[in-house]
Amino acid sequence: MIRRVLRWPDECLTQVAQPACVDGQTLALAVDMLETMYDAGGRGLAAPQIGVMARVFVMDAAWKSGDPVPEVFINPEILWRSPQMALGAEGCLSIPDVVADVKRHSEVVLQWQLADGSTQAQKLTGFRAICAQHEIDHLNGIVTLDHLSPDARAAAIAGLT
Ligand code: NI
Repeated sequence: MIRRVLRWPDECLTQVAQPACVDGQTLALAVDMLETMYDAGGRGLAAPQIGVMARVFVMDAAWKSGDPVPEVFINPEILWRSPQMALGAEGCLSIPDVVADVKRHSEVVLQWQLADGSTQAQKLTGFRAICAQHEIDHLNGIVTLDHLSPDARAAAIAGLT
């Protein structure tokens, strides 16, 4: 089911999400999140963006330029961050029309739970690394605007309609 994507500054986007249970409810949530992400034209979506304060995000780094590769991350945790940083222009489904330059770690090692409750860890690189950091920010009540200097943040907010 396609859910409504909340817009910043909805309070769900500024609060810390709680650990998720790996159960049927969370899996149904993930299915809805993927459907909502594809419908909205995004490559990542975190549960708080649809008003569910659980530590779950979905991502598909591939579908815009090829076959879909849907991924679900339950209770993700960053175990390692590369010293190398990368500055990139990021959009967000919850802050339409704002593209913010955000500095992220180029690579991270992410640990998360799978649908069967097992735990996986993997090094993420490229877009997947950047997207995962963006979505985990959402789980911690942080958005792209929060990475900007006060002046840049004020200018971005002034441009919101
Ligand atoms: Ni976002």
